Amino acid sequence: GTTIPVSAEKAQPEREQPRTLDECRRCELWQNATQAVGGQGPRHARIMLVGEQPGDQEDLAGKPFVGPAGELLERAMEQAGVDRRAVYITNAVKHFKWELRGKRRLHKTPAQREVLACHYWLEEELKQIGPSVVLALGSTALKSVLQDGRVNLKDYMDEPVRHEGRWVVATYHPAYALRVPDAQARQDALAAIVAALRTAWRLAD
Ligand code: URA
Repeated sequence: GTTIPVSAEKAQPEREQPRTLDECRRCELWQNATQAVGGQGPRHARIMLVGEQPGDQEDLAGKPFVGPAGELLERAMEQAGVDRRAVYITNAVKHFKWELRGKRRLHKTPAQREVLACHYWLEEELKQIGPSVVLALGSTALKSVLQDGRVNLKDYMDEPVRHEGRWVVATYHPAYALRVPDAQARQDALAAIVAALRTAWRLAD
């Protein structure tokens, strides 16, 4: 027999906004993810950290930055003297995008349209938390925070800018500091993340 496809648009017209992250069908990424991963941290944190998207472990745990990148981020926060409990941590994209390689689910960079679709949720978090400083971890986060898909991370590295009434600081994504092949480059990337965290901490009132 024939099957009748039910498109995401039909199930949820554009004008009907999803009420919860778990119900979100603003893009297709929910289909292959275990669950949506929202932000975590104090309701009125002064600093918001924004990553790219949940990884394999975050997808399973339902919490941001609990895997290897999270461990590096934790180390960087300790070195910077930033109290993790004072910081709200989230991602630009709330569902894990991946492709199967052997038995591993390998991270795939989200498309700009997926980042834009998910910006709705980042905006909700910004409204709720009201941080005075946003630290963008990597290019995807920066593009979402500044709502500009053409920005270059290098131009913003630890060079804070004002955007919509708050400070935006940008640095490498912690996963970059784990995977870049050269040991010196890994050290430099970690140092840059620590410096950006210090800057964010200093700017937060
Ligand atoms: N990388 C991210 O960008 N976010 C996470 O939550 C985990 C890894």
